[in-house]
Amino acid sequence: MNTEELTSNQQSPEDQEKQELLQKRGEIPRHIAVIMDGNGRWAKSRGSVRIAGHKAGVDSVKDITEACGQLGVGYLTLYAFSTENWGRPKGEISALMKLLVQSLRNETRKLNENDIKLSSIGEIDRLPPTCRRELEDAIALTADNKRMELCLALSYSGRWDICQAVNRISKKVRDGVICPDDIDDETIKKHLSTAHIPDPDLIVRTSGEFRLSNFLLWQSAYSEIYITDTYWPDFRRDELYEAIKAYQSRERRFGKVLSHFELEEPSVAIR
Ligand code: IPE
Ligand code: IPE
Ligand code: MG
Repeated sequence: MNTEELTSNQQSPEDQEKQELLQKRGEIPRHIAVIMDGNGRWAKSRGSVRIAGHKAGVDSVKDITEACGQLGVGYLTLYAFSTENWGRPKGEISALMKLLVQSLRNETRKLNENDIKLSSIGEIDRLPPTCRRELEDAIALTADNKRMELCLALSYSGRWDICQAVNRISKKVRDGVICPDDIDDETIKKHLSTAHIPDPDLIVRTSGEFRLSNFLLWQSAYSEIYITDTYWPDFRRDELYEAIKAYQSRERRFGKVLSHFELEEPSVAIR
């Protein structure tokens, strides 16, 4: 579906039916996180410049955000710019930052119409001032929305997140607020930039790369991972539904044993 053709509250009957089937089929992930990759290769395959791929990727962001909101996903985290992406050519970085400003300007109203709250994780201080201002404004303007939280990972990396958590915990230890012996999973979770967000149930990566590229390293411990060859600018809601179907057919064991396995092997001798 082309998002340009429909306004926020007009969903095609076919799409509504697909979403209802998905909801009946099984659990909708509470938190979906996406590594939006392949913009450059998408552009190259069309004989175009990389930035054309980034521009085309914005339409996928709009479609996936809208579809997740309609489906009842609680949190959608989008990996938009990594710490390592600062190492790209200056021209590409400034084009990406401009695109971010434009998108925030154009889309905040729609986020409000759809009751979607915007948030961000990452080293926001490194973003150019206009970008930061636009982001902070959009976050403030959507702060009371309840339907879904759209979290943009900007200047983000999993290692940065763990380092900043360790720094903050160390300061609290120094100030006597935390006792070193009490530091556990929960302490670390509370100091990560995602403290208020549940761990992702499903991580989607587009463009066929089998890696996390420094995304949500701590938080992805038990995430289900779905990788597709589709480049991000071609990834639209129908493929999101495929990813959710795959998620619904997984068996999440979290390191435990399912009861029917125990029943199948009642007398395994322990030597
Ligand atoms: C993802 O697409 C967008 C960002 C990382 C900002 P890429 O720009 O990485 O595109 P490819 O992977 O080179 O095709
Ligand atoms: C991951 O994509 C980062 C984002 C999608 C923002 P990259 O293109 O930067 O990752 P690598 O270089 O393929 O690992
Ligand atoms: Mg890439």
